[in-house]
Amino acid sequence: MYAVTGASGQLGRLVVESLLGKVAPGEIVALVRNPDSVADFAAKGVAVRVFDYDAPESLAPALAGITRLLLISGNAVGSRVPQHQAVIDAAKAAGVQLIAYTSILRAQTSPLLLAAEHKATEDLLAASGVPHALLRNGWYAENYLMGAGAAIAHGVLIGSAGDGVVSAASRADYAEAAAVVLTRGEAGTYELAGDIGFTLAELAAVVSGIAGKPVPFQNLPQADYAKALEGAGLPAPFAAVLADSDARVAEGALFDDSKTLSGLIGRPTTPWRETIAAGLKG
Ligand SMILES: NC(=O)c1ccc[n+]([C@@H]2O[C@H](COP(=O)([O-])OP(=O)(O)OC[C@H]3O[C@@H](n4cnc5c(N)ncnc54)[C@H](OP(=O)(O)O)[C@@H]3O)[C@@H](O)[C@H]2O)c1
Repeated sequence: MYAVTGASGQLGRLVVESLLGKVAPGEIVALVRNPDSVADFAAKGVAVRVFDYDAPESLAPALAGITRLLLISGNAVGSRVPQHQAVIDAAKAAGVQLIAYTSILRAQTSPLLLAAEHKATEDLLAASGVPHALLRNGWYAENYLMGAGAAIAHGVLIGSAGDGVVSAASRADYAEAAAVVLTRGEAGTYELAGDIGFTLAELAAVVSGIAGKPVPFQNLPQADYAKALEGAGLPAPFAAVLADSDARVAEGALFDDSKTLSGLIGRPTTPWRETIAAGLKG
């Protein structure tokens, strides 16, 4: 039996869809806070169980009978280590035989602020003694869609990544890889990223083409970029984390050319231009 946490989320939904192409619906359990959010999966025969990282005592019973679990990292940045600890403890208690976890590229050495909670979670998995697969996901190409929309509105695409190349891939590609690793049942560490990355200047050129007007890239110091994101309405801590990530891209922190992701999914990763074009036009 396979179970997927965060099955209502953007990545989790895609993982369940990939699993549905590989195993019978009755072998899949969608773990969610709100069952209504995955009524479509239930209609297909996927089991749905309530699962809230913040209700530790309820987690082990919800994992009864599960042999392979995908723990999708939570989105409450700053609270994730105790949340993930609760899930790992519950999985161990329930006798789960493999935990796959969505980490970040080179989590143990990554300079990104965002990497700290992933490194801590990887350390918890190692300490648990439960066999585990570290799915060290790079950036989602979709992360750039909101900024691209704003860039078109303002006529300039801002960031702090300089000439750094980000090896982003689509969520669907990462989801497919997670389903492959789960169904293979292999423990290991996977550095996952798009085959061909891009700079923000290349992104700006593609956005310009879609917009039908020049939308040049303007590189900003990290602090200025954080202020601009705040000015656009992002909460200050989130703006700081995003600006940090972008500045670390300039140093190569989200570049990877291992092609591990395309190797796992058995095809080239989705070209980033396609993901951006589909997201902006759709
Ligand atoms: N690699 C990247 O570029 C990148 C970018 C963004 C995020 N991420 C990470 O990847 C994860 C998946 O990405 P995504 O795009 O699918 O994010 P998402 O759409 O925000 O989905 C997050 C999922 O986590 C669930 N969740 C949040 N708190 C929970 C809790 N306390 N208990 C149980 N479930 C909880 C949400 O459930 P509800 O539906 O109930 O809210 C949702 O299903 C994110 O959570 C984040 O850790 C990675």
